[in-house]
Amino acid sequence: MTDKTPVTVLGLGPMGSALAGTFVDAGHPTTVWNRTASKAEPLVEKGARHARSAAEAVAASELVVVNVMNYAAVRAIVEPIAADLRGRTLVNLTADLTDRARDMAEWAAGHGINYIDGAIMTPTESIGGPGAVFIYSGDEELYQRWRPSLASLGGTHSHLGSDHGRAAAYDAALLDFFWTSMNGLMHAFALARAEGVSATELTPFAQGIGQLTVDLAPDLASRADGGNFPGEGSLIESNADSMGHLIEASEARGIDASVLRAAKAIADKAVAEGHGKEDYARVVEMYERGAF
Ligand SMILES: NC(=O)c1ccc[n+]([C@@H]2O[C@H](COP(=O)([O-])OP(=O)(O)OC[C@H]3O[C@@H](n4cnc5c(N)ncnc54)[C@H](OP(=O)(O)O)[C@@H]3O)[C@@H](O)[C@H]2O)c1
Repeated sequence: MTDKTPVTVLGLGPMGSALAGTFVDAGHPTTVWNRTASKAEPLVEKGARHARSAAEAVAASELVVVNVMNYAAVRAIVEPIAADLRGRTLVNLTADLTDRARDMAEWAAGHGINYIDGAIMTPTESIGGPGAVFIYSGDEELYQRWRPSLASLGGTHSHLGSDHGRAAAYDAALLDFFWTSMNGLMHAFALARAEGVSATELTPFAQGIGQLTVDLAPDLASRADGGNFPGEGSLIESNADSMGHLIEASEARGIDASVLRAAKAIADKAVAEGHGKEDYARVVEMYERGAF
């Protein structure tokens, strides 16, 4: 069941527009506002109400969702209208750093604003569908009160804890995984193309490697959390040697190998410290120590 709670959406970039459009489609009376007013037009055509100011927008709904570029932009919008937000719930789905999320929560509490921090882990096209992933942190009772309305955005919604920084912590770590993986994939495409193998030809096999990384994650995670690196199967000294071959293969074809060099440097450091016969999860601890 979808509840039809009135919702205000502040920020109509690609993501804010997707959120607002989905609320409209789900039958919520939806009020929208954006710094650049013209971006509201397609939503008004869909049935949203366009407020002339952020203050007017928040007056329309007890539930206010904000989604803009970063927290500096959030603050530029909400600080002048703190009094209008008093007693309402502000769900901040903008991505930024953990400390800024905690500062934002403190600011909201100081102004009598109910505050939920959150992040969206999937692209605009996913919003409203089963693949959308939303994460939240802050007071759980407050989150549960608004969960039925937030569920109208589709996908899965997870509350990760009362510390307002938790959603931002997950967001940063997951985007770290995404961007380092993306660079691995782009580099693999370049290396394959240099040998006359198209990126398209490589892709089915690259998908297998991607799946392998995902499959290895639970075991590596338990070793990283437990500080236990038995080195069964694959050893760091052998992994570092393999990366050396890839650097050689890249540079022989004029391909930039700086990302691989950075990865090999941390594995080499682990070997130099006597961890060569341990498994790759040891590298987590090397990163934590800022080993360079
Ligand atoms: N796009 C995605 O697929 C995706 C996926 C997951 C998470 N996210 C996150 O969602 C958030 C929004 O992303 P986005 O893709 O919609 O586009 P974006 O380019 O990050 O943000 C655009 C929005 O921010 C507003 N804005 C920027 N600076 C502002 C300021 N100083 N004062 C007021 N408004 C300001 C823009 O207003 P104007 O229109 O007036 O410029 C516009 O509404 C980001 O935190 C992003 O990381 C996006």
